[in-house]
Amino acid sequence: MTDQYGREINYLRLSVTELCNLRCRYCMPAEGVCKKRHEDMLTEDEMIRAVEAAASLGISKLRITGGEPLVKKNILSICRRAAAVEGIEEVCLTTNGTLLPPLAKPLKEAGVRRLNISLDTLDRDKYAYITRIGSLDQAAEGIHAALEAGFEKVKINSVLIGGFNDDEISDLSELTRRYPLDLRFIELMPMCAGGDFGKASFIPYTRVLEVLPELEPVEPDGGVAKLYRLPGAIGNVGLISPVNAHFCGSCNRIRLTADGKLKPCLHSASEYGIKGLDFDGMRSVMEKVIYNKPAWHGLLDADNRSHAGRNMNQIGG
Ligand code: 5AD
Ligand code: SF4
Repeated sequence: MTDQYGREINYLRLSVTELCNLRCRYCMPAEGVCKKRHEDMLTEDEMIRAVEAAASLGISKLRITGGEPLVKKNILSICRRAAAVEGIEEVCLTTNGTLLPPLAKPLKEAGVRRLNISLDTLDRDKYAYITRIGSLDQAAEGIHAALEAGFEKVKINSVLIGGFNDDEISDLSELTRRYPLDLRFIELMPMCAGGDFGKASFIPYTRVLEVLPELEPVEPDGGVAKLYRLPGAIGNVGLISPVNAHFCGSCNRIRLTADGKLKPCLHSASEYGIKGLDFDGMRSVMEKVIYNKPAWHGLLDADNRSHAGRNMNQIGG
């Protein structure tokens, strides 16, 4: 369905858990998350009911996120059931990749078509620093497992952080010459947990174009990334600019958090609970949420933090 500004909303991002096996500095606090009561979280049946309600309103694309969706024990069942919902044409999943080795093939078989894997650096020490507890080798194994499992598309997401990985723009982009994957740089968003990032950390996507003048523009694919390609590369380099060139005017998504709150916009404090509702109840709340999606997310920079009221792990990246 379309919202009050005429945007066609056809994309639901479903966060299946707030928990994660990593602690990325821009995403969550060091101590992890305060685990919510089990009975306050959506059950698998409720998640599927919500997907059915969304599909009945014209949602055709679903992305499973977290936290880290692969820490969820019933992740394969959620994916399989969601992919079977009438009207859902595409199920994708966003992961940090570290738990992929045994799960990549089963996820593919469960109907997941595309994977986005987070990787901000190719340096072991920097990976351990930014994720606080992660191992680069595990993430790399996960990426290889994804490439072997034969997904339609594998994309690597790198959050651009001034003073941290702006010296790796070239090395990260080179992955698109060696592997059949897209590398996407995402501007760091000033979320609540972004406390330790000062002004210098927030660098614009245009930095990538300055570092890599050889990037050639590629036809857009309908997604939010501006697409480029290195000469001779197999995959694209995508630039995602939620901060310096926001794409709210063409935003097509809504979000559902693991505790059952529909969010019309990542950066808006508005949330509408659907936990415990039946299909008709969920559908009618969803209809209102879509219609009332805000026009844009408001000013975002180092001094103007997101109004989301939650950290990324509690929303779904
Ligand atoms: N700014 C930009 N991207 C973020 N992500 C998480 N927090 C932020 C932030 N503050 C990204 C992760 C991952 C996806 C889940 O969301 O890097 O790619
Ligand atoms: Fe976990 Fe992803 Fe957040 Fe990192 S960005 S802590 S991997 S949910």
